[in-house]
Amino acid sequence: MNWTKVFILQLVFQPCLQAVPLTTTAEQASYRGQLGGDVLMGCRFHPLSPYPYDNLTMAWYWISGDRFREVYRLDHGQEQMSFQHPDFRGRARVLMDGIKDGWARLQVSRLRINDTGTYQCLVRTRNGADFKHINLSVTAPYKTVTKSISKSAAGGELVLSCRSEGYPVSTVAWEDAHGQKLNASTTVVTTADHLFRITTQVRVGSSQKNNYTCSFHSNGSSATFHIPDETPLQKEHTNNANVTQTAFGTCIGIALIGLIIVVLQLRRKGSVR
Ligand SMILES: *[C@@H]1O[C@H](CO)[C@@H](O)[C@H](O)[C@H]1NC(C)=O
Ligand SMILES: *[C@@H]1O[C@H](CO)[C@@H](O)[C@H](O)[C@H]1NC(C)=O
Repeated sequence: MNWTKVFILQLVFQPCLQAVPLTTTAEQASYRGQLGGDVLMGCRFHPLSPYPYDNLTMAWYWISGDRFREVYRLDHGQEQMSFQHPDFRGRARVLMDGIKDGWARLQVSRLRINDTGTYQCLVRTRNGADFKHINLSVTAPYKTVTKSISKSAAGGELVLSCRSEGYPVSTVAWEDAHGQKLNASTTVVTTADHLFRITTQVRVGSSQKNNYTCSFHSNGSSATFHIPDETPLQKEHTNNANVTQTAFGTCIGIALIGLIIVVLQLRRKGSVR
C-alpha cells in the first residue's frame, strides 16, 4: 500500500525532480572592438539556480586554429587565475553581478589586434554543462595621415608621400583636384603592435597648380597637398638666405672694429695731450 503510494508520487513528480538540463546562448554571434578599447561579450545560461555560485564553473577560452588560451575561470564563485594566459592578465574579467541573473559576461579591456579570434563561454552548474562560440575581431582605424613632400633628385618633379597605421590592411587611392586618379607606389610593413604601416607615394609635376589627395579607404582618412603653396623651398634659396645673413654679419663686424679703432685713437690723442 505504502509502496504503491510512493511509486505513484514518483510518477507524478518525476518530470519536476529531473532538472531541466543547462543550456547556454550567445548574446551575439560576433563582436567588434577597437585597438586599446573594451569589449563586453555575453552568454546567457538557463535554468538559474537558487544558489548561483554553488557548483558553478564558468570559463572563457580563446581559440584560433589549433591555438587555445584560457582567458578567465571561475570555480564555485572564486576566480581561478593560475591558468590564465599571460596575454589576458589584468585585462579580462567576468562581471559578477550578472551571474545571479544567468549572465556569463566577459569584459576584455585594452584590446590588442591579436585578441581577435573565437571565444568559448562554458558554464557548468548542478544542472549540467554547455558552451557557445563567439567571434571577436579587433581593428585599428587609420586615424592620422602624416604627409611629406620633397623634390625628386632629378628636379622638376615633386614626390608626395602619405603614411598611416591601422588594421586590417587598407587600400589607398590618390586623385587630383579634377578627380583624376594617380598611380602610386605603396609599401606595407608590419609594426610590433601587429599594425600595418602603409606608405604611399606619387610623383607630380612641380610647375602646375593642383591639389592632390591620398585616401585610406578602410575608414576614409585622407590628406591633401596644395601645389604650389606647399612646394618646399629650393636648396639655392636657403643657401642665398644664409649668404645674405653672413654678409650682413661681416658688415656689422667690420663696422664695430672700425669704431673701436677710432675710439682707441681718440683716447690715445687725449692721453698724449
Ligand atoms: C599579442 O600581441 C602583444 C603585443 O600587442 C604581444 O605582447 C603578445 O605576446 C601577443 N601574443 C601572442 C600570443 O602572440
Ligand atoms: C585647391 O584647394 C584649395 C582649397 O581647398 C582651393 O582654393 C583651390 O582652388 C584648389 N586648387 C585647384 C587647382 O583646384
